[in-house]
Amino acid sequence: TSDKTQGISSLGFESVSAQGKDAFVVPEGYFAQVLAPWGTNLFSVSVDGEPIQPFKQDGTNTDIDQLHSVGQMNDGMHYYPLDDTQGILCINHEFISNGTLHEEGYSPNDEVIRQVDKVRKEYYAHGVSVVHIQLSQGIWQVVVDSPYNRRIHLSTEMDVTGAIAGSGLLTTKFTAEKGRPNVTHGTYNNCGNGFTPWGTYLTCEENWPGHFKITSEVDPVRERYGTKSDKAFNGWDTPFAYDEQFTGEFKRWDISKTSDNPEDDFQNYDNGFGYIVEIDPFSPNAKPAKRSSMGRFRHEDCTFGALEPGKPVVFYSGHDGRFEYVYKFVSDALWDESDASENLPQGTDRMAIGAKYMDEGTLYVARFDENGKGVWLPLTQDGVTESGVRLGVLIGNQAEIIRNTLGAADEMGATPMDRPEWTAVDYDTGLVYLALTNNTDRTEDDVNAANPRPDNEYGHIIRWQEGADDTEFEWEIFIFGSASESDAASINLSGLTEDNEFSSADGITFDQRGILWMQTDSGAKKDIQVDNQILAVIPSNLDETNTGEPVVNMSNQEQVKRFAVAPTGSESTGITFSPDYMHMFTNVQHPSNWPHSALNASVETPDDGRSWRPRSSTVVISRYDGGKLAE
Ligand code: FEO
Ligand code: CA
Ligand code: CA
Ligand code: CA
Repeated sequence: TSDKTQGISSLGFESVSAQGKDAFVVPEGYFAQVLAPWGTNLFSVSVDGEPIQPFKQDGTNTDIDQLHSVGQMNDGMHYYPLDDTQGILCINHEFISNGTLHEEGYSPNDEVIRQVDKVRKEYYAHGVSVVHIQLSQGIWQVVVDSPYNRRIHLSTEMDVTGAIAGSGLLTTKFTAEKGRPNVTHGTYNNCGNGFTPWGTYLTCEENWPGHFKITSEVDPVRERYGTKSDKAFNGWDTPFAYDEQFTGEFKRWDISKTSDNPEDDFQNYDNGFGYIVEIDPFSPNAKPAKRSSMGRFRHEDCTFGALEPGKPVVFYSGHDGRFEYVYKFVSDALWDESDASENLPQGTDRMAIGAKYMDEGTLYVARFDENGKGVWLPLTQDGVTESGVRLGVLIGNQAEIIRNTLGAADEMGATPMDRPEWTAVDYDTGLVYLALTNNTDRTEDDVNAANPRPDNEYGHIIRWQEGADDTEFEWEIFIFGSASESDAASINLSGLTEDNEFSSADGITFDQRGILWMQTDSGAKKDIQVDNQILAVIPSNLDETNTGEPVVNMSNQEQVKRFAVAPTGSESTGITFSPDYMHMFTNVQHPSNWPHSALNASVETPDDGRSWRPRSSTVVISRYDGGKLAE
């Protein structure tokens, strides 16, 4: 992280043309390898000594097989090198597809009483995979049975730390049974990711609010978060759940209030979700921690800001929802370079460093003003709301403010955005980028300067520079997504062409050479020829004066190039590199009919009438000549 940029000034590949294929398409001279599809075994034998079965196309792998293998729906990801030819990949699993997870398609509604082994298979397909990988004779492989390999899922116990810990808001039958006041079960809907300067992984809980069943009165906080269904997702609360044998593991999804004593039921159980979760990939036995001080919302991803010794460490995170907000967390602890990952001796307790920088600090939410100025509004007891009341009076103590991060942000007058997805930081300039994926609910009546297009079906990317203190910033719009042919110039504001048109930017990340990589999701596009792709741009090539116009303007020069097109029906997400930039790891999520080849990601699935069980997969992109990507 303290590396000086290895900056490059041009992109050394030809744009890939728009195409819809059941194949992963890369530029001339590049190849893409399928590395870790759903179901890839991480272990050969279970903890109980049972052999783990390889992935079976008929869906008959057991819950125990799934517990020891890569989960479904690969999403955010980060690579931690061990040496030049091996390292650890941490891979998020955003959600599951019951249709592919189980034999015979299968819908949970078909079962009146859910079967325990099926529910467990669903739990184990969620979470995070920690995967030791190795490069051998040009091919990356999973190191089966490596001591680094690990599965974190919906039954992995972990504590919630920070502002909400110790408040009593986490008390459930489970915390009482465990005798640990802040313990909860695992993590799920792990969408985007982050990593820390001290070498840990951050996984972000996104679409968690809709999974609970509540039949007692729904309080306004849960209303605001959307936790109000009288059915639990996937029937995870159905009758077997009340078997005492499974207390805690299963009954947890029914958060109805049944007692005045929260130790009698799970009425507080949902308060254990909605966080940034820290994992130490180098210490397989280190317990993950949910860092609650960084806010409780549908976190998309988490990116640290430019570091300066003696200054706080800053993290950015967007809430992916229409008209939702973007947040930053500023640590109380000041950055000490001896905490940088490259300076840490083996065996360092990285989770303790995480607690130091992430458990105490100030959470802010952004207000984007009309003149390119912006203000960070503090979500603290002393924060003064638009109506002139302190949050401490309106909401309560910091634990209660964190539980109700969304309500606190509403009261402070944060700017409702067009679905904040990933953030990315250019560590050379300190500029922070935010993908606003789309928002077709935006109307002429509620546009604002930072979200200026009504019916924003293609989305845009905004960026800002922090001011001298923690509370002010200056922003401008970097690029607008658009279709190149069908849209008038009034929509195609960045002048995109058929070589780089895109919709719904989602995953964005900088590499240390100054390339901003942009990945797209299908989203709300109408007339784009391709909706699942990776694009690249070097922002430092562009005019950086704040003119009020989008920074990217294709009429001036070739600026944005399409690097890859992912298989039909999929979403391109998660980008991380080997430190020599010879390999990019990226994820294909929810493809329709891919991968066909176990190795070559670019082989098109033949249209021979057979139906395939599609598998989300990690893909590695390299050059045939062994050169650095994009140079
Ligand atoms: Fe899981 Fe907002 O993407
Ligand atoms: Ca996303
Ligand atoms: Ca998305
Ligand atoms: Ca997704």
